[in-house]
Amino acid sequence: MASSLQFLLFSSLLFLSLSYAQRSSRPNALVLPVSKDASTLQYLTKINQRTPLVPVTLVVDLGGRFLWVDCENNYVSSTYRTPGCNSDKCSISRFAAVCGGCFPSPRPAGSPCMRNRCILSADNSVTRTANDGELLEDVVSVQSTDGSNPGPAATVSKFLFSCAPTSLLKGLAGGATGMAGLGRSQISLPSQFASSFSFPRKFAVCLSSGTGVIFFGDAPYKLRPNIDPSDSLTYTPLFINPVSTSSGYLLGESSVEYFIGVTSIKITDKVVPLNTSLLSIDAEGYGGTKISTVNPYTVMESSIYKAFTEAFINEATARNITRAPSVAPFDVCFSTNNVGSTRLGPGVPFIELILQSQSVVWRITGSNSMVYVSDNVLCLGFVDGGLNPRTAIVIGGYQLEDNFLQFDLEGSRLGFSYSLLGRRTTCGNFNFTSSSIP
Ligand SMILES: *[C@@H]1O[C@H](CO)[C@@H](O)[C@H](O)[C@H]1NC(C)=O
Ligand SMILES: *[C@@H]1O[C@H](CO)[C@@H](O)[C@H](O)[C@H]1NC(C)=O
Ligand SMILES: *[C@@H]1O[C@H](CO)[C@@H](O)[C@H](O)[C@H]1NC(C)=O
Repeated sequence: MASSLQFLLFSSLLFLSLSYAQRSSRPNALVLPVSKDASTLQYLTKINQRTPLVPVTLVVDLGGRFLWVDCENNYVSSTYRTPGCNSDKCSISRFAAVCGGCFPSPRPAGSPCMRNRCILSADNSVTRTANDGELLEDVVSVQSTDGSNPGPAATVSKFLFSCAPTSLLKGLAGGATGMAGLGRSQISLPSQFASSFSFPRKFAVCLSSGTGVIFFGDAPYKLRPNIDPSDSLTYTPLFINPVSTSSGYLLGESSVEYFIGVTSIKITDKVVPLNTSLLSIDAEGYGGTKISTVNPYTVMESSIYKAFTEAFINEATARNITRAPSVAPFDVCFSTNNVGSTRLGPGVPFIELILQSQSVVWRITGSNSMVYVSDNVLCLGFVDGGLNPRTAIVIGGYQLEDNFLQFDLEGSRLGFSYSLLGRRTTCGNFNFTSSSIP
């Protein structure tokens, strides 16, 4: 568990103005669509970048440090700049940035090779590969929102990002040319949008198996039929892992991923017997629970996974639900006979992640725990993370779908809903029809 000192550091991170927005009227919030790629199970979004603007498809990386894009191949823009090593923009990247000379590294065609470049290590968190790239700035444009529909485009003229080689795209969904980092860094998308438009350092993620939504800024966040999930969220503190979880990082750099304090797990109100010391983050940065959009399913350290699946199987058996052979990547599968159907998905034992007190609970119902692999077989959508993984529990995308999550970076807390299916809406229910005249 993070100490209160870490908590204080988190809350008091310097708020710096990074970029200057061109706008006629300042938006209160921005909105991005998020779709799920069927073959990789990655979540994709699209922004407009460069001059002239072109759409850029990006893999959403909740714990990523910043935006990185392939700029070796087809990066054409009349407005990009290289802030250089002695700039404030390089220093706010803090540990992530170092100064480099003119050595071969990716840059847009025709760009001169400068001395004193600001080098950032871009991270492909899917394949866990890092590559040095240069800090650049260019125009980024996304749609504003009043919370109900997309509105006029909002443009940041000097949006910072890292310029990555084409080879770093390996492992990303087809069409993606980079990753959108939403982590707790000074140059992540939420931080740059908040400082550009002077709105609160808050953002919300609502993933869907279809088209979900990300909001930057504060509520309202409206889903059809006129439901704002943020009016009834449960809050839990966000914790700092003192050791970076990126593939490439410098000594002393802390993680910018989002960790929460799971203290125990219950299945049908019974506590699963676990070695709870694994649930705390130790001084070397091992253990704890984080939230990830690059893991398609929740991953648990082996001993936790074993105890968890045994308890789930026992509770399922007590309901006459019978096992079926495993279907990769899952070990624990069941016949759909004796599994009822409810508003919250398949009628299976419910799972509860207990947070800072017994009354603060993240409940995972059948819609988020079970994956249909055929008409007759459904599997528990959790996978074994092996012995001694860096993080004990990684809550993955499938468990997040149709759950509304609001990250409050100033308050250092996460607000979460239970499955929105219980409120008769879904994360696919944002109305992406623009209310503005194009
Ligand atoms: C519990 O986990 C900690 C951290 O990995 C380990 O040092 C300890 O030996 C474990 N305890 C038991 C009883 O397995
Ligand atoms: C399970 O099946 C047994 C035998 O058919 C039956 O007696 C029992 O009521 C069933 N239990 C549940 C929870 O359905
Ligand atoms: C979506 O928003 C548009 C523009 O405001 C509106 O005309 C339309 O009725 C909305 N659709 C639904 C299903 O609410």
